[in-house]
Amino acid sequence: MRRRRATRARWTCLTALVASCVAACSDSGGRQLSPLAQEGRRVYQNVCIACHNGDPTQDGSAGPAIAGSSRELIEARVLRAEYPPGYTPKRPGRAMPRLDYLADKIDPLAAYLAEVGPASAGAAGAPAAKPPGAAPTE
Ligand code: HEC
Repeated sequence: MRRRRATRARWTCLTALVASCVAACSDSGGRQLSPLAQEGRRVYQNVCIACHNGDPTQDGSAGPAIAGSSRELIEARVLRAEYPPGYTPKRPGRAMPRLDYLADKIDPLAAYLAEVGPASAGAAGAPAAKPPGAAPTE
């Protein structure tokens, strides 16, 4: 009997885990963000969406999708309008101005773009959207 109870406890635990993951994963529209990333999101929504898409995983009117950009890339682009050495830009051109007043916002921006990223081709239907445990239904 004791064995059975332990098994059931384990299942309860597993179910709770899966449930919380489903909750977290299905809400991936940028809501489950760390406080730092939330700050970055505010900056992004105030400044960057003038040219980049409101959803950073998608291309914008002028700027490309930048979700998942490394901190190094963000810093080079935003503070110096440059690219890290050896980096191949997603778009040619120099339309993006230097925004060096955002020097203390690079970390929040990097956190935000890392947590929503990476920008994938056709991000809308990315396979990661499939909730775990959804496989066998009755
Ligand atoms: C005035 C329009 C404009 C604004 C505002 C802007 N960008 Fe851009 N951004 C662009 C354009 C256009 C490009 C493509 C290269 C170019 O023409 O400079 C780009 C490229 C980039 C890239 C490089 C993408 C790659 O992988 O090649 C990053 C990173 C980036 N922007 C981050 C930001 C962030 C972060 C902000 C807000 C703080 C921002 N941009 C605000 C227009 C803008």
